Amino acid sequence: MNKGFGRKSHTFLPKIFRKMSSQPKERPESLQFPFLDDDETISTIRESKTLFILRGLPGSGKSTLAQAIQDRYKDICKVISADHYKITPAIRSAIPDDYGKVDEDAVDYFKRDVGVVVMDDTHHERERLEQLFDMADKYRYEVVIVEPKTPWKLDCLQLKDKNQWKLTADELKKLKPALEKDFLPLYYGWFLSKRSSENLRKTGQAFLDELASVKVFKKESNKHFGGAIEDPKMKLDLTSYFVKRPPGVLHCTTKFTDFGKAPGSEDYAQQEAVKSSYGKAFFLTISALFITPRTAGARVELSEQQLLLWPGDVDVIPPAGSLPKGSRAHVTLGCASGIEAVQTGLDLLEFVKLEKSGNKGEEVGEIGGGKLLSYGNGMWMILLSKKIEVRAIFGGYYGKGKLVPTQGGSKRGSPFNACVII
Ligand code: 2AM
Repeated sequence: MNKGFGRKSHTFLPKIFRKMSSQPKERPESLQFPFLDDDETISTIRESKTLFILRGLPGSGKSTLAQAIQDRYKDICKVISADHYKITPAIRSAIPDDYGKVDEDAVDYFKRDVGVVVMDDTHHERERLEQLFDMADKYRYEVVIVEPKTPWKLDCLQLKDKNQWKLTADELKKLKPALEKDFLPLYYGWFLSKRSSENLRKTGQAFLDELASVKVFKKESNKHFGGAIEDPKMKLDLTSYFVKRPPGVLHCTTKFTDFGKAPGSEDYAQQEAVKSSYGKAFFLTISALFITPRTAGARVELSEQQLLLWPGDVDVIPPAGSLPKGSRAHVTLGCASGIEAVQTGLDLLEFVKLEKSGNKGEEVGEIGGGKLLSYGNGMWMILLSKKIEVRAIFGGYYGKGKLVPTQGGSKRGSPFNACVII
C-alpha cells in the first residue's frame, strides 16, 4: 500500500503536503539549525537578504552545511566556496589576492539581491571577516555566522583524515586557536526581514510626513527642531531632519556586546536562550512610533518568550532607576545630525519614565495611523490603532556600526520644504 505513494504520485499531492513531505524527517543533530528546519524561519529568510558565513577548521563539515542550505533555499541561494578558488586554509601574513575573485562573485550576487549567499571558507582571520562585514553593510545583507556542530569539529587528529587539503594535525593545530573562541558581534538583536523593513520604513515615513502637517506640531517645532517657520506654507521635512540611520538592516538591539568588550557580553552570549535562538525567526510587535528632537524610532512590545533574550540591565534611566523589563525595546528609524543611535533607546526610556510619573502625553488628536500624543519638549508619539507585526531573525551585527545617511545619494534638501499644508 505504501508503495503506491512512490515518487511518481508525489506530484499529485496537494501543494501543502508536497511541501511537508519534502522536508527530511530526521537530520543528524549536527545539521539541526532553525534556518534548515523551522518553517517560520525559512519563510522569514525567504523574504530577507542573508549572508551565511560558515566558519570552522578544514574537514569540520562546512561544505555539508553549505549543501544543506543550498538544498533548502535552492532557487534563491548561491554558495561561494573558497575551495573552488584554490584558496588553501593557512596562517598567512596577508589576505591572498585570490579573494579578489571571490569578492567579485559575491558582489555580483549582492547586486542582484540574491536572497541567500553562503560563504564557505575557514574564516579564521578577523581581517577577512571584516571585508565581508563591510560588503554586507553596503548591500544591506544580514550576516549569520554558522559553525558546524560535528563532534570532531575541533579534533585535529580526526580532522587530519577528513580535510581535503591533506593538512597535517600540526597545521590544523595552528589554525585552531583562532576558531575555537566564539566570535561576538557588536550587538545582538532582531533583524527585520527586507519586506518587514520596507513596510516599517513606509509607515515611519507616512508618520513623519503627517506629523509635520499637524498645526500644534508646526507651532512647537520652531522651538525644538531648530528653525522658525514663519511662512504658513512651509512645513518641516522630518525625513531630512533625521539624516542618519544605523548601517545594515533595521533592527531591535537586545544586548550591545561591543565584540565581547562590553560588561556581561560573554555571559549573555553563553545563555541557552541566546544560543538556541541564533539564526531563528521571531514576530515582533510594533505598538507605537515616536520622535524627539534627537531621534525617530518604533516602540517594540516584547512577548514573554522574547523577553528571555532581553538583558537585565538595559532598562535603567537615572534618577528613575529601573523601568519594566523590555521598556527600551525599539527600532531606530533615524537620528538627527550629530546624534548617535544609542540615543533612541534612551529617548524611549524617557517616554516610559514620563508615563510612569503620570504624564501619559497630551492627546492632540487622531492622525492616519492612530492617536497622537505630545509629551512636551518636542517628544511625540503615535499609538498605532493597528499594531504592526514584523518578521525578524535573531542574530548579531558584526560591522563597524557607523551611522550612514538615511536617504543614500538623493537628499531631499533643507529640512524646511515649501509645500501646501492641508
Ligand atoms: P539601537 O539603534 O538599537 O539603539 C550601532 O551603533 C548600533 O548599536 C546602534 O544602532 C545602537 O542600537 C546600538 N548601540 C550603540 N551603542 C550602544 C550602547 N551603549 N548600548 C546599547 N546599544 C548601543
